[in-house]
Amino acid sequence: MTMHPAIEKILIPQDALQKRVHEMGKEISQDYKNSCPVFIGVLKGSVMFLADLMKQTTVDHSVDFLCPSSYAGGTKSTGIVRLLLDLRESIEGKDVLLVEDIVDTGLTMSYLLDNLRTRRPRSLEICTLLDKTSCRKSHVPIRYRGFEIPDEFVVGYGLDYKELYRNLPYIGVMKPLKAEKSKK
Ligand code: IMP
Repeated sequence: MTMHPAIEKILIPQDALQKRVHEMGKEISQDYKNSCPVFIGVLKGSVMFLADLMKQTTVDHSVDFLCPSSYAGGTKSTGIVRLLLDLRESIEGKDVLLVEDIVDTGLTMSYLLDNLRTRRPRSLEICTLLDKTSCRKSHVPIRYRGFEIPDEFVVGYGLDYKELYRNLPYIGVMKPLKAEKSKK
């Protein structure tokens, strides 16, 4: 596979992503076989993962979206979370699966969990494609985890740096930013 010039190395290739998402879909389908859960996609990073996960899930489910903002175009979490877009439907009494691209410090997810719990869902679980466990500042109970990754800034498969590289079909580590600038 040809690598994008901004990428230093591919951390998770496309076929490994597809295989893992298939396994996660199977597990979720089994766990929710007597339910009709709501998948809540955390915009924008979860879109590719969510779309693939939906295709690999055989139980009926609905989809809704939330859009928090915390990074303001940088690479470090500020811990200050604003909700730029809220759910369309009530989740009261529903089984909710929060679908996220990556849990890093956990600050965003903690905020979302606190917020959603006040709306009294029947259950509330987290499904994240990537987990940077070594960066955690706030404990987050993750029910479904795709891959544990090291403390490196990654892009692709929905994840961005300054809104770019979401289209890459793999998860890649970016080249150091100085090197990227000096090439321009
Ligand atoms: P947290 O609040 O630090 O857990 O950050 C969660 C959010 O930060 C994720 O939903 C991503 O949007 C973003 N994020 C964290 N790490 C990365 C990364 O390595 N690449 C791209 N986005 C990231």
